[in-house]
Amino acid sequence: MNTLFSLQVLLILHLTGLTLMAGTTAAEYVTFKEIAKLFSTEKERARSLIGLMKKVSLLLGIGAALLITSGAGLLLLTNGVFVHQAWFQIKLSLVLALILNGFTVGTRNEIKLRKSIDADAVQGITAIRKLKRFYLVQCGLFFTIIILSVFK
Ligand code: HEM
Repeated sequence: MNTLFSLQVLLILHLTGLTLMAGTTAAEYVTFKEIAKLFSTEKERARSLIGLMKKVSLLLGIGAALLITSGAGLLLLTNGVFVHQAWFQIKLSLVLALILNGFTVGTRNEIKLRKSIDADAVQGITAIRKLKRFYLVQCGLFFTIIILSVFK
């Protein structure tokens, strides 16, 4: 297998991971908007949508794993030439921000929302407000990372 072909295969996997991750985030956002609408009036439907969102999150994890492993592969195959370039350093920082934001703001507020559905409406409304901002930030980060990767 020659290097060019390996690079192309890794890039296909990289873009597949990206599609899976960004697509899942978009699907989660649409589901979340519906949950926010139903939160105080139709708790049973809101609860089942939260369950669906948890299942969809699995795809996000698979996409992230694919993106990171193929990215590492691309880096190795190109002998790390990008490591010293500013676009790549900014890109990696943004990837880190994307992951940290997901695990901190995203996961934490999804748990709060789930727990507050029967108990604490105020906590639920605060979690909804934070999650709205969270999805906007994630979409902005994805978009910036893609622009950086293409224009280098
Ligand atoms: C959300 C995360 C990421 C997104 C959205 C993303 C997006 C992209 C896109 C769209 C390209 C294609 C650029 C082109 O060929 O025109 C690319 C290339 C690349 N990515 Fe990523 N990437 C992400 C994460 C990573 C990570 C974590 C690494 C390294 C560990 C990485 C390493 C690379 C490398 C080295 C290339 C250049 C390949 C080449 O041009 O030969 N990426 N990325």
